[in-house]
Amino acid sequence: MNDSIFLKTLAGEKTERPPFWFMRQAGRVLPSYMKLKEKHTFWEMMQNPDLGAEVTLLPVDDLGVDAAILFSDILVIPYAMGMGLEFTDRGPEFDIPLSERADPLAALNPDPEKLNYIYNVIQKIVATKPSNIPLIGFCGAPLTVLCYMLEGIGRSKDFPVTIKYLYQNKETVKQLIDAITDLSIIYAKEQIKNGIKTFQLFDTHAGLIPFDLYKELFFPAVKRIAQAVREEGIPFIFFPKDLGTGVQQVTPDMCDYISIDWQTPIEVARQLVDDNIGLQGNIDPRLLYSDQKTIENSLNKYIDFGSKNHNWIINLGHGFLPDIPYENAKFLADWIKRTDWRR
Ligand code: CP3
Repeated sequence: MNDSIFLKTLAGEKTERPPFWFMRQAGRVLPSYMKLKEKHTFWEMMQNPDLGAEVTLLPVDDLGVDAAILFSDILVIPYAMGMGLEFTDRGPEFDIPLSERADPLAALNPDPEKLNYIYNVIQKIVATKPSNIPLIGFCGAPLTVLCYMLEGIGRSKDFPVTIKYLYQNKETVKQLIDAITDLSIIYAKEQIKNGIKTFQLFDTHAGLIPFDLYKELFFPAVKRIAQAVREEGIPFIFFPKDLGTGVQQVTPDMCDYISIDWQTPIEVARQLVDDNIGLQGNIDPRLLYSDQKTIENSLNKYIDFGSKNHNWIINLGHGFLPDIPYENAKFLADWIKRTDWRR
């Protein structure tokens, strides 16, 4: 574990290059994943410990990333709260959107035991992974999870039902946030007990509402989850996508590292974010649709940043897209390793 460049960086040590992993690294960008998908459904792969561990570790072998992330999904929380969930070709779908319930809180029945299968997967990963590759655990942040719960589906990226609901039923929303946060804390603590070494909170839809409203409703919940993770001695990475200049108001009691989306240049993010918080990010995943010469030219701008900033993890500004050529994902990984970071 001590020879993990990823954990060293998180612990504040200087390393000779920035560590890297990629959001959605274990997915359709990998030919090895597509092969497994021919035989197994997504649910099967995340529920079966052997398959879950195998898929989690595919990007370690195929791309050479410095950390693995648990192969699971943020929607396991609503599922453990009693919502019927299916992963279809069009994305995740819940049986009844929470917004259609007269009393959404009464419709939920949070049961921490319904997450137990995931700890078996974590144990299997820990038992089979290389010793210098730590495992990252995660869950969705309350806003992003709530978006899928209220909307029922994840096809529309602007979640109109959710936003209307939020403005019309603020008090109910506050109670839902508390319920999601309570279960997420139990889940995070169990992941830690079973061997994850870093935790990332995904708030993909943080930019859906005005920052002031986000701060009022969701900052307290993020702080609670951060505190629960950090009191176990585990570093906490917060990914509030599209938060914009709101990153200025993220305080060190909310995270150790903040994951920056591709909208904000990394140097600008560095100026905005509190000096005591490290950065992760923020390559535009769609850059990987271009040819390798263009990719390399665009990546070169990160060398200067990386030469000066040791508290930085290279990642994407959002996850890999399914149709990105694997060769370009591999090119990116190799580029990070062969670059002279002038440190
Ligand atoms: O990053 C990883 O490799 C770890 C595994 C992981 C998945 N989902 C696997 C997955 C993680 C960390 C997530 C998080 C997640 N899930 C988020 C937040 C991060 C982000 O990408 O924005 C969100 C919003 C979800 C909800 C979700 N799950 C959607 C909208 C979809 C369908 C669209 C899509 O990207 O495929 C999923 C399904 C899903 N989750 C897949 C994978 C590999 C696709 C399953 C398949 O191969 O068909």
